[in-house]
Amino acid sequence: MNVQALIDTANALVANEKGLLAMDESTSTCNQRFAKLGIPQTEEYRRNYRELIVTTAGLGNCLNGAILADETIRQSARDGTPFVKSLNGARIIAGIKVDQGAKDLAAHPGEKITEGLDGLRERLAEYFQLGARFAKWRAVIVIGADIPSRSCIETNASTLARYAALCQEAGLVPIVEPEVLMDGAHTLAQCYAATEQTLVAVFNQLYLQRVLLEGMILKPNMVLPGIECATQQTANEVADATVKCLLRTVPAAVPGIAFLSGGQSAQLASARLNAMNVRYKSRLPWSVTFSYSRAIQQPALELWRGEEANVPAAQQALYHRAQCNTAARRGEYTVAME
Ligand code: 13P
Repeated sequence: MNVQALIDTANALVANEKGLLAMDESTSTCNQRFAKLGIPQTEEYRRNYRELIVTTAGLGNCLNGAILADETIRQSARDGTPFVKSLNGARIIAGIKVDQGAKDLAAHPGEKITEGLDGLRERLAEYFQLGARFAKWRAVIVIGADIPSRSCIETNASTLARYAALCQEAGLVPIVEPEVLMDGAHTLAQCYAATEQTLVAVFNQLYLQRVLLEGMILKPNMVLPGIECATQQTANEVADATVKCLLRTVPAAVPGIAFLSGGQSAQLASARLNAMNVRYKSRLPWSVTFSYSRAIQQPALELWRGEEANVPAAQQALYHRAQCNTAARRGEYTVAME
């Protein structure tokens, strides 16, 4: 294991006040988003869409890394340039989603376990050859009546740590993503409790399984009320709860925390990240940035709708969201930017 290379990559992923883009939707998730907008659900349309993203001018001013899906890391632009090469040309590091999805956890109604450890060592070696220098694995924790269970949290934490150790062995920086979902009517306090328990379990397992904390990135949810909760806190209150939770659970050795957006609107995802950086940046041991998918891509996807003529407008919208989030990472985002 090349410890220094892992540390250098992890630091590069959160350097220069920039963030990450998740463009690693599985084929079925991408198809679902296409279907809602009437876009044909074919490999060629998915490729066209990913080309639109990677060829957006100036993206390297906002992003240090982009997370790809297995299909995408093997694809090229129409002119034959592999997507990984296009990204690297824009000074963006290529990453790869390596989990194989959240499946029902046996004996735990309503809870999930992420699969994909079988054959992972071999897949990681191939992804390194294809140019990936970091990876992502998402675990899903659901809040509901009597859940999350202790066993669901521990099983997912153990699996995340096994994945992270394998990544580091292969020279890839693991993005460790335990997502407490915002679906439902639960309160911010319930999200806080589930997130704190989850992060304690995750870092316990990362320690037990000898994961190099300096060579990884944490990708957590923000501490939020459920999307159907009647009480929706302000951006400052969300920032306070989220930072309190992270300070209690995430070791200072971790170089960066890059949030998922999780179904928040694009504007709220920017405003809440901004509030954390405005209120706490100078006091935090780690960089606090974004690794959004929907909160960067959704406006662009809605403009594109599969039409070649809409590519410039969609690229402009994508760049705008990337810029808003880069400003939020710096604590310089304002609603006037919208
Ligand atoms: P969202 O920002 O849409 O939640 O996606 C982030 C991600 O990568 C989920 O794994």
